[in-house]
Amino acid sequence: MNDYSAATTALRLTRPDDWHLHLRDGEALRAVVGASAAQFARAIVMPNLRPPVATVDDARAYRQRILDALPAGARFTPLMTLYLTDRTSADEIRRARDSGFVHAVKLYPAGATTNSDAGVTDLRRTWPVLDAMQQAQMPLLVHGEVTDPDVDVFDREAAFIDRVLIPLRRDFPALRVVFEHVTTREAVQYVEHAGGAIGATITPQHLLYDRNALFAGGLRPHRYCLPVLKRATHRRALVEAATGGNPRFFLGTDSAPHAAHAKEQACGCAGCYTAPHAIESYATVFEAAGALDRLEAFASFHGADFYRMPRNTECIELRRERWTVPSELPFDDDVIVPLCARETIPWKLASIGSRSIQ
Ligand code: DOR
Ligand code: ZN
Repeated sequence: MNDYSAATTALRLTRPDDWHLHLRDGEALRAVVGASAAQFARAIVMPNLRPPVATVDDARAYRQRILDALPAGARFTPLMTLYLTDRTSADEIRRARDSGFVHAVKLYPAGATTNSDAGVTDLRRTWPVLDAMQQAQMPLLVHGEVTDPDVDVFDREAAFIDRVLIPLRRDFPALRVVFEHVTTREAVQYVEHAGGAIGATITPQHLLYDRNALFAGGLRPHRYCLPVLKRATHRRALVEAATGGNPRFFLGTDSAPHAAHAKEQACGCAGCYTAPHAIESYATVFEAAGALDRLEAFASFHGADFYRMPRNTECIELRRERWTVPSELPFDDDVIVPLCARETIPWKLASIGSRSIQ
């Protein structure tokens, strides 16, 4: 049994899963996949490659490249997703359901974020596909931001709820939906009160930082992601949602690696790299909220339950040990600067073992 008091020095948890992860491809994939595999048993892998992972055949090939890139001995299962485009067919959804390795379909409104140009321009074009997904009980994962340039960037998530999500779920009431990387109080309230099957992932960066962190002493490109960090009041709502025990909220890092030079330039890429210290970051947030006893359900149970997958049987151990996140890590022929670089974290992942330790 865990002791959750401030005096505790170690925590054992069921091994967690990451329900929202970017692994990239090629050398970049090889550079980052081990970090996620060292922490998580499974991950929902985002399909926003160039070109996107749009078909079951694409997903099969990408899944094999991920498995090939894993370090020897890693125990990690990639859960594949398809990228919804204006041209996705209902047949592709049925093939996805039958594949056994495609677990969801991702909606990127065209232009909303990194590699989203192939995304959906008009949701009405995808109605036959959404209908097939509803029948196949295939979850739709949404990047919940409108792309209307007249909507302030900090309001795009709230506008998405009213303009897209509510009408979508009215038209497809049985569609299983994950509102990815929620960043606002409005999104939390929507997910808490909406009817039907809806879940939401929450990232470490949106729990740890508010938008002031983007400008702390100067521009901080490694804290820039989309949806962008919001006001402190929104961060507090996210912490309450994550730590509150509601099974609709679960862990999804949105770890999104970009080479340092691609973020440190006149027009820098969006995405925070959190994979190497993800569970430790969440533990820090949960402890600060006095909710360490609820970390396991958020990190290891709620997502598996939503996706109707068995919970993991392995466990991990976190030790109370202060360590400093490296200033940079190798990445392809460049380096990557992780979120929290040079900051200290009070927890460290010590081991992965069998359930029986507990
Ligand atoms: O910050 C982000 N980075 N948000 C996204 O939606 C995509 C991601 C990426 O792929 O880099
Ligand atoms: Zn993402």
